[in-house]
Amino acid sequence: MIRYGADYNPEHWSEEVRREDLKLMAEAGVTMVTAGIYSWAAVEPRPGEWDFGWFDDVMDGLAGAGVQVCLATMTASPPPWLSHAHPEILPVRADGVRLSPGARQQFCPSSPVYRAHAERLVSELASRYAGHPALAMWHVGNEYGCHIRACYCDVSAEDFRRWLRERYGTIGELNSAWTTTFWSQRYSTWDEILPPRVAPTFPNPAQQLDYHRFSSDAALECFLTEQRVLRRVTPGVPITTNFVGLVQKALDWHTWTPHEDFVSLDSYPDPYDPRAHVEAAFAYDLVRSTKDQPWLLLEQAPSAVNWRPRNSPKPPGAMRLGSWQAIAQGADAVLFFQWRQTSGGAEKFHSAMVPHGGRDTRTFRETAGLGQELARVPELAGTRVRADVAILHDWPSWWGLELDSHPAQLEYLETHLAHYAPLFDANITCDVVHPSRDLSRYKLVVVPNLYLLEQETADNLRAYVAGGGHLVVSYFTGIVDGRDRAYLGGHPAPLRDILGLRVDEFWPLEDAVDLRFADGTTGSGTNWSEWIETEGAEVIASFEGGELAGRPAITRHVFGDGVAWYLGTRPDLGPVLGRVCSEAGVSPVLDGPPGVQAVVRHGEESAYLILLNHGTEPVTVDLPHAAPDLLTDPSRPVREVRLAPRGVAVLKG
Ligand code: GLA
Repeated sequence: MIRYGADYNPEHWSEEVRREDLKLMAEAGVTMVTAGIYSWAAVEPRPGEWDFGWFDDVMDGLAGAGVQVCLATMTASPPPWLSHAHPEILPVRADGVRLSPGARQQFCPSSPVYRAHAERLVSELASRYAGHPALAMWHVGNEYGCHIRACYCDVSAEDFRRWLRERYGTIGELNSAWTTTFWSQRYSTWDEILPPRVAPTFPNPAQQLDYHRFSSDAALECFLTEQRVLRRVTPGVPITTNFVGLVQKALDWHTWTPHEDFVSLDSYPDPYDPRAHVEAAFAYDLVRSTKDQPWLLLEQAPSAVNWRPRNSPKPPGAMRLGSWQAIAQGADAVLFFQWRQTSGGAEKFHSAMVPHGGRDTRTFRETAGLGQELARVPELAGTRVRADVAILHDWPSWWGLELDSHPAQLEYLETHLAHYAPLFDANITCDVVHPSRDLSRYKLVVVPNLYLLEQETADNLRAYVAGGGHLVVSYFTGIVDGRDRAYLGGHPAPLRDILGLRVDEFWPLEDAVDLRFADGTTGSGTNWSEWIETEGAEVIASFEGGELAGRPAITRHVFGDGVAWYLGTRPDLGPVLGRVCSEAGVSPVLDGPPGVQAVVRHGEESAYLILLNHGTEPVTVDLPHAAPDLLTDPSRPVREVRLAPRGVAVLKG
């Protein structure tokens, strides 16, 4: 069964409304809600005074209605009494401003006071609902790092020093790791070390990089504090926490997901952006690849959000299409924020499954329609997506790339999406994986702009190519190690032998530059260029104009049994990646009309081809063999499918 439902915030509603909720949930095919995310102040109105009676009724009601609960640990927004008694738990910005309560996520992740109170609440909650028939899963915290990406208070400073002592052991080692000889930054004792607060100019880059790592770990420690209680009190109940989509980079998912049973993601593509589904697709491939198992779409909007400058409702069919996209890319659950739209509070204009207008609304009809549709395809749950292509993605490299004082301000996500989009458009399924992953199962590995690259990653790539793999590396990759120290001896030093070249200088581009390909065709490069000296690589394209005219821009190098391509600029990536894919034997899931996304979910006995028309025109898709569309007539195999704009088909074959 694909789980279906929403965040449920019952503290807003009377018992009468909650009774109606149960009826409407049945009508909408809701099978799971994630409940209680912001209920802390309601279950503990005063310190140590518990009021769980009303929540017991909610849990019992849901159990009676057959709705599973992904129970939130309620720690996402501490009640005012906690910060009133302990103002030191409030987070501090890099400029020294201490944030006030009155919104949410108002805690310093390193605060022992916050963590102790969270632990106390979670113990109470877990003991109370252990064995409850509705309890299906735990939802720890909520979107860690969403608002508070890092805290710069004195408590965090102390925790940072502890973290650094564990990482480096001696102050001498820290001085070396941070290159503190530069600008007279040498530390004589640990006590002198501070977070990278606002400073006269660029703070030490290695210190900034470590502060990103530390801040992700500090939030992780909050998660683990709760997770340990849950493992002890309710062993066997799976645990998740919802990641914010890729718009922010605070948490290194790869250090978090080993501690979760399911990975879950919140996704809010902008209905005004006709390409928003591509960025969503990248996030889905990444979240799926972290654990190589089905994941949970724990939040999306049924229609409009309230937090962009202008918020478009989702046009008819868009919510269904976006939900099926997540399922196609490996989700086994589709939930919304939120079940019922509140009449007050900051999110009163955020859509919900049950809008202000109640049951007789387009949003309710559409969400209920999807719930009923999903109930007809239980066999999809647990099936897997397989990919021949991997894109490498790494948080420390993201943090490192976007530090200040670089040759140019490059954007990690933008670069990744630029490389991902042509593959997406060609219906080539990708995994998005950590650089340490065993790459041998992939026919092609794409490395967009992996600025920070550990020696082990270079070794992994070397073994992959030597063993017959096809590799594409784009510019400004392999420049620094994990301490943000440039590799010496010609860039990208750890990859030079694989790529068969040396980069002498970086020439970031203001304007596009012409390229001439060895086969006589022309093109252009944007963003970046480099002075490349080949050392065995074949030149595929050269710069035509500018200071680098005549010099190599794109190269190809046979290394061992494989091939390594290097892009010293950003060409039109579609044709280049297309050529590499055909050399590598990578083929699309389907050669369909433009705008139609095609993904296969593989079960043990059957495969399910899911077709999604992201375009605005109706299209006809020819199928490789006759198969029934489970969403229209499961008993009648068809050779072609007609998809309306935003149409979906699930073909079983
Ligand atoms: C986030 C939060 C939710 C809600 C939504 C609104 O995803 O987790 O509580 O605020 O945003 O879009």
